[in-house]
Amino acid sequence: MDKQFWHDKWQQKKQGFHQNAPNEMLVKHLGALALAEDGRVFLPLCGKTNDIPWLLSKGLHVVGAELSEFAVEQLFEALAIRPEISIIGTVKCFCGPKIQIFAGDFFDVSREMLGVVDGIYDRAALVALPKEMRRRYAQHLVDISANATQLLVSFVYEQTQMNGPPFSVDGAEIHHLYGQNYSVTKIDSKPISLGVMSELIVREEAWLLE
Ligand SMILES: C[S@@+](CC[C@H](N)C(=O)[O-])C[C@H]1O[C@@H](n2cnc3c(N)ncnc32)[C@H](O)[C@@H]1O
Repeated sequence: MDKQFWHDKWQQKKQGFHQNAPNEMLVKHLGALALAEDGRVFLPLCGKTNDIPWLLSKGLHVVGAELSEFAVEQLFEALAIRPEISIIGTVKCFCGPKIQIFAGDFFDVSREMLGVVDGIYDRAALVALPKEMRRRYAQHLVDISANATQLLVSFVYEQTQMNGPPFSVDGAEIHHLYGQNYSVTKIDSKPISLGVMSELIVREEAWLLE
C-alpha cells in the first residue's frame, strides 16, 4: 500500500470510505475521551472527514494528518476557512481557527510538530494500513501523542473474503499493538455494510485505549 495508491484514490474521486455524516460511534462515544471543553483532539489519516466539522462544532480543537494535500484543500473548502499555510520539512501545515492539519506523511509528523494532544480519534486509519505497516503506525502514534487516550473505530470481517483496504483488525491485534501502552476495552460493536462488498459480514467496533 504505497502513497501513490492513496493519491490516486483522491485524484480519481474514489473515496468509498468517506461518510456524509459524522460517524455514529464518534457521536455516541466522544464522551469516553473525557476531553475538556476546549480539548485538542488528533485525527491521524483524517482525509476530509465530516467528523472534523462535528468536533469543531463541539468547541474542540482539531489536529489532523493527511497524506493528500488535495483532500486537505477540500476539507478547508467545506469548512469555508481560508487556511494559513506553512512548511515544516516535508509537511505542509494548514491552519485556521481551532484547526491544524498536517498535509504529508503521518510518519514525518513529530511530537514537537504535533504539540500536546488530549485525545486521539482513529476512524479508518489503522484499518487503512496493511498488517506490515500497522505496528509502525501504532508505535508512531503512541510516541508523538505521548500515549494520549484513543477512541479507535475498526472493522472486523473474514479477511480471506476481501482484499483491503479497509483491512480487518480484530481485538487480538489491537491488544497486541496497544496492550503495552494502554488499557484496551471494546466499548461497542455493530454490523455495518461496506459499500464495496455489501454482502460481506462486517462489524464496526469501537475501542477505548486509556
Ligand atoms: C480510509 S481513509 C480514512 C480517512 C478518514 N479517517 C475518514 O474516516 O474518512 C485513509 C486516509 O489515510 C490517508 N493516508 C494513507 N497513508 C497515509 C500516510 N502515510 N500519512 C498520512 N495519511 C495517509 C489516505 O490519503 C486516506 O485519506
